[in-house]
Amino acid sequence: GKVAVLFGGTSAERDVSIMSGTGVLKALQDAGVNAFAFDPAQRPLHELQAEGVDRCFIALHGRGGEDGTLQGALELLGVPYTGSGVMASSIAMDKIMTKRIWRFEGLPTPDWRMVSSAEECAQALAVLGAPMIVKPAREGSSIGLTKVTDVAQCAAAYAAAAQHDPEVLCEQFIDGEETTCPVLIVDGVAQALPVIRIQAPDGNYDYNNKYFTDDVRYLCPSGLPADEEAEIQRQVVRAFNTLGCRGWARADVMIRKSDRQPFLLEINTSPGMTSHSLVPMSAQVAGLPYAQLCIHLLASASL
Ligand code: DAL
Ligand code: MG
Repeated sequence: GKVAVLFGGTSAERDVSIMSGTGVLKALQDAGVNAFAFDPAQRPLHELQAEGVDRCFIALHGRGGEDGTLQGALELLGVPYTGSGVMASSIAMDKIMTKRIWRFEGLPTPDWRMVSSAEECAQALAVLGAPMIVKPAREGSSIGLTKVTDVAQCAAAYAAAAQHDPEVLCEQFIDGEETTCPVLIVDGVAQALPVIRIQAPDGNYDYNNKYFTDDVRYLCPSGLPADEEAEIQRQVVRAFNTLGCRGWARADVMIRKSDRQPFLLEINTSPGMTSHSLVPMSAQVAGLPYAQLCIHLLASASL
């Protein structure tokens, strides 16, 4: 069969998607899969039918690729695709909706306020305390994100986030260790892969440090005590299942320094597959090299 690797797109994470998709495409082609590149920003999606495509590997990030809209179009076209379906994709893209559901289900996520002005952002800081993270509700890769330590920063932080999304989230900053943990469906069951501990310079795991520097230390195996690793894995599997995710995802988790409590920040339903990305790193440690991971994901494509 013929496989389209979807990458590019129109979101702020377009460049990241191109890095992800290029890697996936090459791995599939090297494995003998009849795969080709398809950029939804350049071609109408219905051309997938004319091309005789029988499944898609989604390597798009952000809105228009990871948020359920593309998934809905593929459902209507009848072309199976990797990853979560319409609803889970669209909820997971929205950090506020995600947190509402997790909170309702008793999953640990930092306190937050949804704000619609710089004034409300300052009010949120008074309630949540400093430091506080201000970010767009539906964005990725730390784009539009500011760590606010003083009320004087609220106006600029709000503006930076609102530039990317009218919905802005203020979230209590969890002082501690940054980790991430992939979830993969294996034999129909959601399984956590090894946890990765991320040590960025000054704790600043921003866009540049995510993709373009070698200044970040990634620990996998994490070196965390076995019970902490297991607790993170248990929580991310719950986070995945609670939203009804499918195929794979990667949840970002902070461990609070004071009591070692893990807090879920978000779940990415189309995680990065770049050379710096974390799902491939963790899968490799679990004995699943990049190419095999791509094949496994492709095989899980569904409608
Ligand atoms: N949003 C980026 C692609 C990630 O989570 O890996
Ligand atoms: Mg994200």
